[in-house]
Amino acid sequence: MDAVANGPERTAQRIIDNLSSAVCLFDAELRLCHVNSTAEALFGLSARRLLGLTAQQLLDSNRLAGLLAVALESGNPWIERECSLKGVGEHSVTVDLTAIPLQDPSQPPGVLLELNPVDHQLRIAREESLLAQQRATQEMVRGLAHEIKNPLGGIRGAAQLLEGELDDPSLREYTQVIIHEVDRLQDLLNRLLGPHRLPRMRRINIHRVVERVRTLVQAEAPPGIRLLWDYDPSLPELYADADQLVQVVLNIVRNAVQALPGEGEIVLRTRAHRRYTVGHICHKLVICIDVIDNGPGIPEEMQQKIFYPLVTGRADGTGLGLSIAQSLVNQHGGLIECDSRPGRTKFSILLPVREGIGAEDE
Ligand SMILES: Nc1ncnc2c1ncn2[C@@H]1O[C@H](COP(=O)(O)OP(=O)(O)OP(=O)(O)O)[C@@H](O)[C@H]1O
Ligand SMILES: [Mg+2]
Repeated sequence: MDAVANGPERTAQRIIDNLSSAVCLFDAELRLCHVNSTAEALFGLSARRLLGLTAQQLLDSNRLAGLLAVALESGNPWIERECSLKGVGEHSVTVDLTAIPLQDPSQPPGVLLELNPVDHQLRIAREESLLAQQRATQEMVRGLAHEIKNPLGGIRGAAQLLEGELDDPSLREYTQVIIHEVDRLQDLLNRLLGPHRLPRMRRINIHRVVERVRTLVQAEAPPGIRLLWDYDPSLPELYADADQLVQVVLNIVRNAVQALPGEGEIVLRTRAHRRYTVGHICHKLVICIDVIDNGPGIPEEMQQKIFYPLVTGRADGTGLGLSIAQSLVNQHGGLIECDSRPGRTKFSILLPVREGIGAEDE
């Protein structure tokens, strides 16, 4: 952070910035005078915007600001567990707080506040088990699909041979039923087997992908459905397979259209998350595409299952859209998350920007 920092200072800064805890230093007036990168990510604001804020403004709590003042006065540290901080970024976050008064006589007095997000740990644990379960189901379904696919080829071939031998054309109706149904099953099995090719990675602009989906869906959706967009134009290019990502966003946006009762709103939003953990890897930069609709939401008992193949809540659904989307995003090292309640369903597609490729502005 300090351009003229010398060697040891720079090392200390690197260590502080890479801690998993958010660190905030308050001066004797309880104004924020230093933050690490983790704190910037936690509060969703740059150091420039954060520095100078009072403890009350930052924590949005008179009680916590009062406790900090007591720590500064008395010299006694305190710890507060599972503290819900409101007004931070978009959602409230739950953190464990540790306040340590600094009383080194050679330095100006202050209080160091350490924040450890609890939500974050819960989210990582949940994601890891979700990914493991999805992988196991996917493998089982793939194995089964593969076994069914082989004899289908034989059935189709035999039906064609039989058709050639039939003298009575009215009987061909029956062989055509066999061929048609086999084709339908083969199509379903191909989709169950998942992405049949590896991603063709190129440097792409994520907004091209989202705009392509928006144009496609705008043309096919009922007129009562409004597709809005809220893009962060400063996002860097991403190394990804644009066609596969179009498929991902399309599957999710189509689900939103199908969930809305002929009218409603869908927002396509792009954002960057700095120092964000996907699975168990903490990435420097993650591009996030949110698809938010104001439809009825996903019933709670279904929310844990929607990414599994063949899970559907629609009479004419095959239940493959989300499982395919999740596999494609996993191939990009990313993850799709879902957060739903009546009136607001949000699917977040998280795509890590790999270092050195498409991350020039890092
Ligand atoms: N935005 C949403 N709002 C409400 N429910 C949703 C939403 N998105 C998904 N769902 C639920 O999740 C289920 C699974 O979705 P998925 O895309 O995997 O399958 P599908 O849409 O039923 O069938 P397919 O996409 O294969 O045609 C849906 O059937 C629906 O019940
Ligand atoms: Mg679908």
